[in-house]
Amino acid sequence: MNIDDVIKGRRSIRIYKNDEVKEDLIREIIEAATFAPSAKNSQSWRFTVLTGESKDKFTDMYRSELDKSTIDVGSSYGSCSMMEEAPVVIVVWNTNELGWSTEVHSVSAAIQNILLKAHALGLGTCWIGDIFYTYEAIVDYFNKPWKLLATITVGWSDAKPGPRPRLSVDDVAEFLN
Ligand SMILES: Cc1cc2nc3c(=O)[nH]c(=O)nc-3n(C[C@H](O)[C@H](O)[C@H](O)COP(=O)(O)O)c2cc1C
Repeated sequence: MNIDDVIKGRRSIRIYKNDEVKEDLIREIIEAATFAPSAKNSQSWRFTVLTGESKDKFTDMYRSELDKSTIDVGSSYGSCSMMEEAPVVIVVWNTNELGWSTEVHSVSAAIQNILLKAHALGLGTCWIGDIFYTYEAIVDYFNKPWKLLATITVGWSDAKPGPRPRLSVDDVAEFLN
């Protein structure tokens, strides 16, 4: 795949086959994350890879937190079902040593590398921000000294989503002389 195929062909995948994803492939996509740019080369990304029982325990906890929630949790139940069905969930952390927003930018760049590398390997992914509705519960559950940034589902796609509308270059850019 050339760079345009990877960038333009990637889509958020929300339906997965029940097939295993070998750890070697997950290692490859995390290695791609480690090549992202980061502010002052801080590399403030960390990843917790959940499969099997560890993933089931996490999604059970997440679903029970959603059930307990008294606020509107948006599309979280859909994201929860997606994580239950995907064979792999990657929890993405920001070590946040300086407390600067650039650390968030850096980890986000790493996430994009994961999505693109996974697509190049034929894997589907979805970047999940809905976990912010139950942020504290998830951080407590993993007991890490880091900030939670996202989760990512990874698996073999069982969907063929059509193109999403995109703003054009002229919509998003101005060119000043
Ligand atoms: C920061 C961020 C948070 C997102 N959170 C969710 C989410 O919680 N659940 C979900 O289904 N998709 C989520 N998405 C995926 C977006 O809905 C998706 O990228 C967007 O609709 C464009 O579609 P595409 O990824 O197929 O190009 C998120 C994407 C980003 C970048």
